[in-house]
This record gives sequence, structure tokens and C-alpha cells, in this order.
Amino acid sequence: MKVLHVPVLYGSQTGNSESAAKNLAESLPNELSTSAVKVTSTVMELDDFLEKSRAPWTPLCVIVCSSYGVGQAPIGAWKFREMMDLILEKDDYKNAFKGVKYAMLGLGDSKYTTFFLNPTALDSGMAKAGAERVGSLGKADASGKGDKVQLNVIEEWSKTIISDLKRVVKELEDMSEDQYEQKNEEIEVARKNTGDICKLIYEDWDKKEKPAFDTMQLLLAVLVVLIALYFNYKPKCCDHDH
Ligand SMILES: Cc1cc2nc3c(=O)[nH]c(=O)nc-3n(C[C@H](O)[C@H](O)[C@H](O)COP(=O)(O)O)c2cc1C
Repeated sequence: MKVLHVPVLYGSQTGNSESAAKNLAESLPNELSTSAVKVTSTVMELDDFLEKSRAPWTPLCVIVCSSYGVGQAPIGAWKFREMMDLILEKDDYKNAFKGVKYAMLGLGDSKYTTFFLNPTALDSGMAKAGAERVGSLGKADASGKGDKVQLNVIEEWSKTIISDLKRVVKELEDMSEDQYEQKNEEIEVARKNTGDICKLIYEDWDKKEKPAFDTMQLLLAVLVVLIALYFNYKPKCCDHDH
């Protein structure tokens, strides 16, 4: 049986995108799994996906993110936005995320002149890096009225995106072993390419790849100090030579 992990990645300042992402991640395994493909899902912040998890792209992910400040990224998505800005600015990363498909729901507020700038940057950056969006770009406006009220739009998008995601699951289901392996190789390249970009935006990216080594060094130093103390320390009370 094939297994498809679908991470739901979010950036959220006041919790709206976060709760939409959590609801989606909860529903995806049941909605998408078939007799041939077992779908699993987790929810995590966009920057944690990069830094803590080191960009574990899979063939399909979902991104839910708002705009904050003046068209900037919300908390938890600053580095991801920095990566997208770099991709948009340079022409060096055109196929960097080839093979990755993503669905995207953006949140914003049309009362700001910088309405929807961050979701637009994320969507354009992903597309420029060769990732392919599935379904429509969700646009949930906090100033939306009537049936365009933000929560309604989120719920509606979350329902309709399921059929788009199902198509991707079907594609994977229909792949031969060779095609499936090729797909996984493509995704591996996307992970490596993301790591290369992260080296430019996280100063200590390489250092963090070897945390065990730093801990070992610390333990060794403590051991050396303990051995030195053991051999040199003579309490004054017990020093009967003088
Ligand atoms: C201080 C502040 C700044 C904001 N800046 C923008 C903005 O520049 N563009 C935009 O479209 N929405 C902006 N918004 C609206 C939020 O994106 C919107 O309220 C959204 O629902 C928040 O989702 P979140 O809880 O996931 O962060 C701003 C909201 C606040 C409170």
C-alpha cells in the first residue's frame, strides 16, 4: 500500500489560519485515504517545517497563511516568506520545488491597502519554484460580507478543495512502481534544494545539522574537568604532610 503524508503548513498571527489548518489536517486522512493509498496528515508552522523539520516535502501539502503588519508574513512564517521573496527576486530557483503540489488558502483583510500581499507572495513563489497549485487559491477576507464572511469562505474552500486533493491521490494511486519511485526522487531533490536556499536565510543552518556533535563536545569537556578535579583536589583538612 502506498502512503501519502500531507503536511498542513500554516502561518497565523491571531489564530484564524491556525484553526483552519488544524481542522483540515484532522479531516484529510479520512477524506482522502483509499484502499490503495493511506493518507496521513500533520499540522505545523511554515517556519518549523523549514527549520525544525528541515523541509520534508512530500508530493502534496496544504498551506494556510494570513497577511500581517504591512503585507508581511504573520508569526511562524517569516522565514518561509523570506525564502519566497528570494525565489521571486532571483531566477536561480525555477525548478527547485518541481514535483511538489500544494493547495493554498490565504487570509487577509481588504480594509488594508496591502490586502492579501503575503498569500500572493507565497503562491507566486511556490509557482515560480516549479511547484504546482491544485485547486483555487482560497481568499478569506476578514471584511467579507454576506456569504463572503471569512469563516464561510474558509469552510467552503476547505470542503471544495477535497475533490482537488482527491485527484492528486488518484494520480499517485495510478502510478506504476517506477513512476512512484521517480516521484519520490523528485521530492528528494526538492528537499535538498530547499536546504540549499535555507543555508542562505538561516545563518546557522549547517551548524544545526550536527547538534549531537555539539552535545558530545560538551560532555567530553565536563568529563575532562571531572577527571582533573578527581586527581588534583586534596581537601585541606586531610592534608597531613605539613
Ligand atoms: C495589525 C494587523 C495588520 C494586518 N495587516 C494586514 C495586511 O497587510 N494585509 C491583509 O490582507 N490583512 C492584514 N491583516 C488582517 C489579517 O490578515 C486578518 O485579520 C486575518 O484573518 C488574520 O488571520 P490569522 O489569525 O491567521 O493571522 C492585518 C491585521 C492586523 C490586526
